[in-house]
Amino acid sequence: MTTTVRILQGITGIVGLGALVLGLLFWIANIDLISLHKLFGFIVALGLLVMSLVAVSTRGMRLLGVIGVVYAFILPVFGLSQATLLVGDLHWLIETAHMLVGIGALALAGIMGTRYLRLKQTAARTASQVTVPEIGR
Ligand code: HEM
Repeated sequence: MTTTVRILQGITGIVGLGALVLGLLFWIANIDLISLHKLFGFIVALGLLVMSLVAVSTRGMRLLGVIGVVYAFILPVFGLSQATLLVGDLHWLIETAHMLVGIGALALAGIMGTRYLRLKQTAARTASQVTVPEIGR
């Protein structure tokens, strides 16, 4: 499972950065690669969902996992509906919110992955400390 979490962390990080760059290119430079951006966004949402399910099944991370599951659904729903929200002068508020929600998804996946790996590392260290004296007896 540790390898899966490492891979998920890497994928969400790299693909998420790609989604952010494509979104910013669209926003700032009017370069329309939104279809690819959406694909990257869905991969991020899927990565976050799987990572959250791993967290839900790990003691000490369940609440974070539930938050991640809900977040993984909010990200695409907000992304797909944002064009119709607050249309007009204040639309930049929605655009900014969407960007922050996207960055939040990347941060959440990163935090969950790091926390999971740290928990497993601590558990492995504790287990080795418990077994070493027994072997010496
Ligand atoms: C399933 C996930 C996602 C979907 C469906 C989605 C969809 C979209 C769409 C349709 C637009 C163009 C909006 C318009 O026409 O004005 C957009 C723009 C943008 N997206 Fe995403 N996106 C997703 C994930 C992300 C993620 C993960 C990030 C950042 C890491 C992000 C950052 C941006 C930025 C900066 C823009 C330009 C500003 C804006 O219009 O909000 N998006 N996205």
